[in-house]
Amino acid sequence: MQQPLTAIPINIPGLAIYECNGGDPAHRKTLLEMYAQWFPQYAYYLPYMEYRTSQPVGYDPRFIERWWYVERDGNPAGFRFSKYLKARNISVGMGSAIVKEYREFEFGPYHRLSDLLFHLTNDQLCADATASGRPTPDGFVVEIESPQLVNGYKRYGYTILELPVDYLEPPFIYEFTRFIEPDVLAKLQFEPMHLVIFPVGGKHLDPNDTALLTNITLGLLIDHYGLSEDHWAVQRALASINQVGTRPKSLK
Ligand SMILES: CC(C)(COP(=O)(O)OP(=O)(O)OC[C@H]1O[C@@H](n2cnc3c(N)ncnc32)[C@H](O)[C@@H]1OP(=O)(O)O)[C@@H](O)C(=O)NCCC(=O)NCCS
Repeated sequence: MQQPLTAIPINIPGLAIYECNGGDPAHRKTLLEMYAQWFPQYAYYLPYMEYRTSQPVGYDPRFIERWWYVERDGNPAGFRFSKYLKARNISVGMGSAIVKEYREFEFGPYHRLSDLLFHLTNDQLCADATASGRPTPDGFVVEIESPQLVNGYKRYGYTILELPVDYLEPPFIYEFTRFIEPDVLAKLQFEPMHLVIFPVGGKHLDPNDTALLTNITLGLLIDHYGLSEDHWAVQRALASINQVGTRPKSLK
């Protein structure tokens, strides 16, 4: 069996994690099939994703992009995408799913495979930050559409912090619009999302820290999605952060 390509060592019985960017073509194919199955609403991303997985993890010097394909006992179990934004020193998620029968997972203090993957993602983030000469990052940020999922994460006791930003997810990564038909792109909408961070090492973060919120928001909307700073969605998110900054301390 080919060795997993993750940079951090994963010695967990029954679990294998393979890096797909620049990785094994068979893993890349399975990953894209799983993505299409879990996220049919984002199927228009597939041509871009096929291209991206053909390139190595660090082909864009601004980022380290890790698209993990996960196997349980040799069977496809899920995936987790993360992208380390060097200038912002945070990582952002671009998709994760786990096959239902593998979601429960007992290992050390972990009871869910999803929680274990969040911790491994943060371990990887710290390794990538160190390799980039950056200090310990704040954590891994994900956009979540469903409040039910946010509540599920809280109920399971994952260490998460919701970020009070009026955030809308852009429909595409604008520097890669060559991978999407213009008429398809024209019909897509910006969608409201909850922003949630998984702090590195469970470290305390203040949800009213406007510098933190601004760094995360600009990291996603400008660095990752490629919007300009004067775009309405950026301005709208920043305006909501300014509101947070003027909140009385008692409302924290
Ligand atoms: C995201 C995921 C890996 C989390 O796994 P987990 O931490 O083990 O959590 P669970 O699967 O138990 O989900 C927690 C709760 O969120 C709900 N949920 C999960 N994904 C959801 C979605 N896309 N929309 C609505 N609710 C969702 C679950 O039904 C569960 O609700 P319940 O406790 O009321 O039954 C897994 O739910 C999954 O693969 N979901 C499908 C893909 C997905 O939605 N990915 C996230 C995109 S941000």
